[in-house]
Amino acid sequence: MCGIVAYVGERDAYPLILKGLKRLEYRGYDSSGVALLHHSELNIYKKKGKVSELEAQYSGKEPRATVGIGHTRWATHGEPNDKNAHPHHSNNRKLAIIHNGIIENYASIKKQLLQKGHVFHSDTDTEVLIHFIEDIQHETGHGLEESVRLALREVVGAYAIVIISADHPGQLIAARKGSPLVIGIGENEFFFASDATPIIEYTKDVVYLDDYQVAVVREGKLSIQSLDNLVTIPYIQKLEMELETIEKGGYDHFMIKEIFEQPRSIADSMRGRLRAGDAHLTLGGLNSYLDKLAEADRIVIVGCGTSWHAGLVAEYLFEELARINVEVEYASEFRYRNPVIGDKDVVIAISQSGETADTLAAIELAKSKGATIFGVCNVVGSSIARATDAGAYTHAGPEIGVASTKAFTAQVTVLTLIAIATAKRKGTITEDSYLQLLNELEGIPAKVERVFENAAKIKEIAFIFTYARNFIYLGRGLNFPVALEGALKLKEISYIHAEGYPAAEMKHGPIALIDEDMPVVFLATKDSSYEKIVSNIQEVKARKGRVIAIVTEGDTLIPSMVDFVIEVPEVHEILTALVSVIPLQLLSYYIAVMRGRNVDQPRNLAKSVTVE
Ligand code: F6R
Repeated sequence: MCGIVAYVGERDAYPLILKGLKRLEYRGYDSSGVALLHHSELNIYKKKGKVSELEAQYSGKEPRATVGIGHTRWATHGEPNDKNAHPHHSNNRKLAIIHNGIIENYASIKKQLLQKGHVFHSDTDTEVLIHFIEDIQHETGHGLEESVRLALREVVGAYAIVIISADHPGQLIAARKGSPLVIGIGENEFFFASDATPIIEYTKDVVYLDDYQVAVVREGKLSIQSLDNLVTIPYIQKLEMELETIEKGGYDHFMIKEIFEQPRSIADSMRGRLRAGDAHLTLGGLNSYLDKLAEADRIVIVGCGTSWHAGLVAEYLFEELARINVEVEYASEFRYRNPVIGDKDVVIAISQSGETADTLAAIELAKSKGATIFGVCNVVGSSIARATDAGAYTHAGPEIGVASTKAFTAQVTVLTLIAIATAKRKGTITEDSYLQLLNELEGIPAKVERVFENAAKIKEIAFIFTYARNFIYLGRGLNFPVALEGALKLKEISYIHAEGYPAAEMKHGPIALIDEDMPVVFLATKDSSYEKIVSNIQEVKARKGRVIAIVTEGDTLIPSMVDFVIEVPEVHEILTALVSVIPLQLLSYYIAVMRGRNVDQPRNLAKSVTVE
């Protein structure tokens, strides 16, 4: 969602901030802006639309400044327009702020400030916050830092903020609660950002701010204190990310780069954890909790979107291999029920970004009821990773395309490793099955690579269906979540209406939709429900539906019945999702490109959904 970039040092801040904002474009946004401090004069430049539009509008007009703050906004309070774009200034125009998150009690604060004569220029909660800070300064006579702290103690909601002040050149103040903020430390310079991507090309030394901490850079020094004035020594970590992982590397879009990266990202998610030859499987972050998992009464998996689909795959894996009862919940629903959950339950939270607000809230709720929480996250140091008792990173590398691809297959891989390790600990799989699964898993990257040999054929099918208005995706067993994921991928990037269903459910309603204009994608690989799927295909063909079937290499029956086939290599049934999802990602991508969609930044979507 919104993005933050701020800089204080010796370089020219404006181009650096603009470049950083462009690196954050993948998060999704609708306007952008920058505030620069030049000889104690605070200038704000902002504009609805892309960062390139802001750049074009002010090109050559901006002063050289060595301190500044920049923002990409994804509208929550007030429509996307120039006036609602960040930064916002205080009443006396001496302070400016950028903010990710939501100040929930902004309306009551605004009311008080209006009575005191404050004049607002936007509809945002953020503008209220900076006026409030100025008001506290004015009323109490405290300095800016203390006034920020006092204001933040009063606000309800989530925030990552950075504040610049005309009275304090060379100073930036930042704070966070519930919304990530990372500080990069260079030679006589500091970078602030909502994630590490804008920082990586300048420094690998970073500090992740914790909730309720306020960071101040003054006279070239960084200090961190809590809202209660407790001083913390900044804990400097090394970023492991490389610059090329956040660049397109010759591909047209990040999404296609990330699809083709999957043999590597799946291998990375197993690296150091799995060595089939030595019967070795270990998950560093989970080892001491394996008994807890093996003895759990129940596993509750929470996540949203694609991560929820990975959870559905994991449900089959844990039940089949470890014989543990599993429930998979949308985090957003779980948090607003009164779920029956206790200390014998294990909750697994799945999240690529590690910042999804609903998933974070579900974790807090489960924690308060005594459950043990595991995280399966991609972004190292993210809020969810830090809120869990233990976990395993997916190590897929940065995922920039808004539609999740390599994160899904890495999540499924890591969840498979956890399920196998739990089954082994519990004694619910034989040694032979254990060794066979480890071997098969190790072979998955090569099999995914083989699916890419069909890319040209998938492109041709995409061309035929470019202007379809609806799609149905059907699968059974482990291919049911894959059907959901295929439908989600298509709708989010091509804007074609698509639905995923368990194939047998079709008869209970969706079959009414089938006619010669309805493309139906069947996940029809050779597994235990193969015969049943064959019958379902016949039902669709009998009603003139146009069938695209994902089949196992060498299958001759289904190709004789359907309109189009895409082959995938044969894999152990438990690992089906890892290969059968790949053609669906490619099909969505090619259709979206042919329709001229903005594949990496589809409309209305954000990469990390930090509001509920
Ligand atoms: C779909 C997609 C979203 C995310 C969802 C959860 O392609 O990207 O559905 O999967 O917003 O995000 P994370 O995994 O970051 O919690």
